[in-house]
Amino acid sequence: MTTKVLMVCLGNICRSPLAEGIMRKLTNNSDFLIDSAGTANYHLGAAPDHRSIAIAALHDIDISSQQARQLTPADLDAFDHILVMDEENLSNALALCTSKAQRNKIVLITSASEVEASHIPDPYYGGADGFARVYELLHDCCSKWLMKHTK
Ligand code: 4NP
Repeated sequence: MTTKVLMVCLGNICRSPLAEGIMRKLTNNSDFLIDSAGTANYHLGAAPDHRSIAIAALHDIDISSQQARQLTPADLDAFDHILVMDEENLSNALALCTSKAQRNKIVLITSASEVEASHIPDPYYGGADGFARVYELLHDCCSKWLMKHTK
């Protein structure tokens, strides 16, 4: 059975596209379907931020063809796990829920993977070093999350 995992941030141009790319590479598409979305509609249809594309490319991951989309109520039923980057994404996503089953799918990616960081910081207004830090954090989170969710 395919496990469907949705990575969620605010704009779907910096963190969650990178998270999607890392998770796709780590799962190699076997048994998992990975997607990403943003809780906001600021960048609908846009490619990932060039700094996310660059840090992904440095790690042999091509995220350049992704297009930003907004999290929808239908996603809350369609996906098995919804991994959000920070507390703001968490409250925005929870606000869309109409059932306990939906709410139970939504978790902070850091707590779900038991890494020490409390959240994945928004790198949008910072420099390239922020994106490198986000990559390392996400790689750690995705690896640990997968260890907990694969046999
Ligand atoms: P993301 O980063 O949520 O990781 O995609 C952001 C992208 C855009 C904005 C904020 C955060 N923005 O305000 O436009």
